[in-house]
Amino acid sequence: MKAVFSLLLAPILLAPQLAVGNPTVDQQIAFLHASNSSLLRYPTQFTQNIVPKSIHSHNDYWRNTPLLEALSLGVGSVEADVWLLNGTLFVGHELAALTPNRTLDLLYLQPLLAVLNSVNPKDEFTVNQTTPNGPFDTASSTPLQLLIDVKTDGVEALPFILHAFQPLREAGYLTTFANGTLTPSAVTVVGTGNSPLEQVKALEPRDYFFDAPLTQLTDPSLNTTWDPTLSPLASTDYEPAVGWSGIGEISEAQRANITRFVGDAHARGIKARFWDTPGWPIRAREAVWTELLSDGADWLNADDLQAAASF
Ligand SMILES: *[C@@H]1O[C@H](CO)[C@@H](O)[C@H](O)[C@H]1NC(C)=O
Ligand SMILES: *[C@@H]1O[C@H](CO)[C@@H](O)[C@H](O)[C@H]1NC(C)=O
Ligand SMILES: *[C@@H]1O[C@H](CO)[C@@H](O)[C@H](O)[C@H]1NC(C)=O
Ligand SMILES: *[C@@H]1O[C@H](CO)[C@@H](O)[C@H](O)[C@H]1NC(C)=O
Ligand SMILES: *[C@@H]1O[C@H](CO)[C@@H](O)[C@H](O)[C@H]1NC(C)=O
Ligand SMILES: *[C@@H]1O[C@H](CO)[C@@H](O)[C@H](O)[C@H]1NC(C)=O
Ligand SMILES: *[C@@H]1O[C@H](CO)[C@@H](O)[C@H](O)[C@H]1NC(C)=O
Repeated sequence: MKAVFSLLLAPILLAPQLAVGNPTVDQQIAFLHASNSSLLRYPTQFTQNIVPKSIHSHNDYWRNTPLLEALSLGVGSVEADVWLLNGTLFVGHELAALTPNRTLDLLYLQPLLAVLNSVNPKDEFTVNQTTPNGPFDTASSTPLQLLIDVKTDGVEALPFILHAFQPLREAGYLTTFANGTLTPSAVTVVGTGNSPLEQVKALEPRDYFFDAPLTQLTDPSLNTTWDPTLSPLASTDYEPAVGWSGIGEISEAQRANITRFVGDAHARGIKARFWDTPGWPIRAREAVWTELLSDGADWLNADDLQAAASF
């Protein structure tokens, strides 16, 4: 029955005219509506058979269909670069890449709300369900991790970002820390880039978390007790932290770099991610992925989702 999802997604991912350009937001929305067709034999079939994987979709908005392509491959974490301009949150890598319609709301939040609504039917069978399903039907308790990489001033942008998430918040879809309790839900939002640490710490309740600095979890000068109620994730730039290109043998000292940082994170219940891992040569990319996984890193940071999903 994987066929149902593939059938619906295929026209968007494979149509030649779309493979080169960007499908419009309207087409994405149309696809989501199509997913609710009577072809579906049960409500949460939308993501049936998609096995979630610990892959982080770096610069996810570059893909032909942001978010949905990642979900279709079972990618458990996606990242959007966000710019606050004139009170609107735009998504793109740099100013020159922004267009009026490429907003956080249209590219991510509305499609995500539609996906989650489709896997969370409200009916006589679900009346007693208290925790919403995450996007993956095969692992409904696995949340999607959504990284918001703030590119403009973080203190200024945070209230707009929190406001933009209101529809997901009202639906109960956001992982929340409140009254001393962390309650996982369908989506865990993690701020990175210019996300402001002190303001995120001050949130009560908190449904926007903070990507901790992986190499500085033990650094007292940051005045922060890192734990999953603030930071479910800690990240660092791979090359300066590890120093192995993926070509030739890794040294014991380089491996010790990885295991030390992973250990610092795991000791606090935090997941570890190394970003900007080598993309080429392919052999180097895969050698680094293999090394990171065997040393306990939790997320594979990937630009090529197909390659990472079949790795
Ligand atoms: C899916 O279909 C049902 C029944 O036709 C409808 O009530 C619901 O609003 C639809 N959901 C979406 C997201 O279109
Ligand atoms: C922001 O608003 C100003 C004044 O209305 C306008 O000139 C400018 O083009 C706007 N910029 C963007 C990115 O919308
Ligand atoms: C932007 O969205 C509006 C309203 O949905 C639509 O009319 C317009 O064609 C879109 N522009 C682009 C460039 O896709
Ligand atoms: C929901 O809970 C009520 C009260 O305990 C029970 O009578 C009912 O059978 C439950 N429904 C389902 C679908 O589990
Ligand atoms: C936290 O506690 C306050 C006061 O007891 C209560 O009003 C609020 O609903 C609680 N929030 C959550 C998310 O449980
Ligand atoms: C940590 O606290 C000290 C003393 O209050 C302060 O001087 C320093 O700037 C703080 N560091 C950070 C990163 O906020
Ligand atoms: C990583 O290991 C190398 C040894 O190859 C060492 O020189 C370097 O300082 C380490 N990097 C960090 C961030 O600890």
